[in-house]
Amino acid sequence: METRGNTLFLLLLCSNWALCVMITLTVEATLHGNETDRFALLAFKSGITSDPTGVLNSWNNTISVCDWEGVSCRDKHLKRVTSLDLSYRGLQGPISPFIGNLSFLRSVLLMNNGLYGDIPSEFGQLQQLRLLNLSFNSLNGVIPANLSLCSELITIQLENNQLTGIIPAELGCMTKLESLNLQKNNLTGVIPSSLANLSSLSEVFFFSNWLQGNIPEELGGLTKLKVFEASNNMLSGKIPAQFFNLSYLNIFAAATNNLHGRLSSIDFKLQKLQTLYLGENQFTGTIPASLTNISSLWELDISTNSFSGKIPAGLGGLQNLIFFNVILNQLQADIAEDWEFLDSLTNCSQLQFLGFGLNNMGGTLPSSVVNLSTTLQVLAIGYNPMTGSLPAEIQNLINLNSLDVATCNLKGEIPAEIGKLSYLQWLGL
Ligand SMILES: *[C@@H]1O[C@H](CO)[C@@H](O)[C@H](O)[C@H]1NC(C)=O
Ligand SMILES: *[C@@H]1O[C@H](CO)[C@@H](O)[C@H](O)[C@H]1NC(C)=O
Ligand SMILES: *[C@@H]1O[C@H](CO)[C@@H](O)[C@H](O)[C@H]1NC(C)=O
Ligand SMILES: *[C@@H]1O[C@H](CO)[C@@H](O)[C@H](O)[C@H]1NC(C)=O
Ligand SMILES: *[C@@H]1O[C@H](CO)[C@@H](O)[C@H](O)[C@H]1NC(C)=O
Ligand SMILES: *[C@@H]1O[C@H](CO)[C@@H](O)[C@H](O)[C@H]1NC(C)=O
Ligand SMILES: *[C@@H]1O[C@H](CO)[C@@H](O)[C@H](O)[C@H]1NC(C)=O
Ligand SMILES: *[C@@H]1O[C@H](CO)[C@@H](O)[C@H](O)[C@H]1NC(C)=O
Ligand SMILES: *[C@@H]1O[C@H](CO)[C@@H](O)[C@H](O)[C@H]1NC(C)=O
Ligand SMILES: *[C@@H]1O[C@H](CO)[C@@H](O)[C@H](O)[C@H]1NC(C)=O
Ligand SMILES: *[C@@H]1O[C@H](CO)[C@@H](O)[C@H](O)[C@H]1NC(C)=O
Repeated sequence: METRGNTLFLLLLCSNWALCVMITLTVEATLHGNETDRFALLAFKSGITSDPTGVLNSWNNTISVCDWEGVSCRDKHLKRVTSLDLSYRGLQGPISPFIGNLSFLRSVLLMNNGLYGDIPSEFGQLQQLRLLNLSFNSLNGVIPANLSLCSELITIQLENNQLTGIIPAELGCMTKLESLNLQKNNLTGVIPSSLANLSSLSEVFFFSNWLQGNIPEELGGLTKLKVFEASNNMLSGKIPAQFFNLSYLNIFAAATNNLHGRLSSIDFKLQKLQTLYLGENQFTGTIPASLTNISSLWELDISTNSFSGKIPAGLGGLQNLIFFNVILNQLQADIAEDWEFLDSLTNCSQLQFLGFGLNNMGGTLPSSVVNLSTTLQVLAIGYNPMTGSLPAEIQNLINLNSLDVATCNLKGEIPAEIGKLSYLQWLGL
């Protein structure tokens, strides 16, 4: 109404038609920004059913869209909306398809709200979009294939929603994409091999979906990949060998799937690997000794698999090691030499978690166990056929809060000094 009033007023004043149109457009743009943008934002507002913080109250016709809360225009003269940030506002309701008309949008931050309904495929019209964060909402429906038309997109965050359907193969043509986060949704189907085309991709999160099939071999060609997180799915097959050649890889996580194969054949070139999570799969073979050469490693969890053989002796070389979990495998120890890994681990001054329970670790538990780092919080070594005794010096491990040595053949009394471990909350004997 406001705009129409101004326009009418201006029309009455001008004599030259062309000049008049120019003045009107300028005045309108100055006051309100582009009409299309304003309509689109008002359509978004009208879809919202709950706005507990009242952020949208400022979205009225008396001020320029560029001054609306959560709305920014990069170029104050052009008055086109370039970013929308309404995160953490408790907004509920669907996202209006009119959002696709905000053609200058570069970033959309709508995370941590209660938005529901589909992700409008009109997002595909946003040719300037670089960042899309719709995470932590209640969005359902499928990931629109049209999203792939946003050729400038660098970051897509759709995690923690209720999205269903497949990961569209079309996403493989978003050449600038660096980060794709789809974790904690209900996505099905396979990991599309077309993603191998995303040569800029550095992090990808598929954690906790219902994805099946193999990890596509082609993805091993993503040389810039730093994070691959696909735990809690139904993936099967082997880890493509090329993954272990990716020199930037920091995190490789594929726990709780149906993967199999051996790691022993792998030539580790992973000089930046920090986290390797492969627990709850069907891996077999030995733990490769070359693993002890990945000095960047700080978390290793290969528990609940069928690894066999000895635990490699050189673990002490892993100066950054914090978490070492090989619980529930078929690892073996018979003679003193097989326990060298434990002496060696006393070198890891940051170790917090050591678990090798539920294996076939026989022979004598070395008394050097008391010389593990005082940072140790969990020592889970129960359910092994080993003998020996728990020395009184176990009290050195002052930060221990969980100690499990259950059903081992440890001789002698449980040292009374255990009572000095003031953080101990869990004791399995
Ligand atoms: C507003 O933007 C749209 C889309 O970019 C364009 O088609 C339209 O001409 C613009 N309107 C004005 C008044 O500038
Ligand atoms: C429009 O919003 C601004 C900023 O919140 C406020 O100062 C103004 O009173 C509002 N105008 C109307 C007509 O609601
Ligand atoms: C904006 O988008 C809506 C829905 O996608 C459409 O119906 C409308 O015609 C578009 N154009 C303008 C100028 O609002
Ligand atoms: C999705 O993209 C196709 C072209 O690839 C286009 O025809 C269709 O209109 C788009 N849908 C929307 C809602 O933008
Ligand atoms: C997207 O939102 C999530 C959840 O709040 C947040 O952790 C993440 O940093 C955001 N990403 C960007 C690029 O804004
Ligand atoms: C997603 O999966 C969970 C677990 O199976 C289920 O409880 C939930 O209803 C599913 N949601 C949708 C939208 O399918
Ligand atoms: C990926 O690239 C190959 C060729 O490099 C091409 O044939 C294929 O169509 C591309 N896939 C997608 C989804 O862009
Ligand atoms: C790993 O890289 C080396 C060269 O650095 C190459 O010879 C080898 O074939 C690669 N292995 C795989 C499985 O791609
Ligand atoms: C560790 O790396 C060094 C140097 O590359 C090599 O000589 C040694 O054999 C490696 N150790 C293991 C256990 O692979
Ligand atoms: C312990 O760490 C030092 C470096 O701090 C290293 O030289 C030594 O080889 C390590 N010992 C073992 C048993 O790995
Ligand atoms: C523990 O370390 C100390 C100091 O290095 C050493 O004197 C002692 O013999 C070690 N104890 C065991 C049981 O290895």
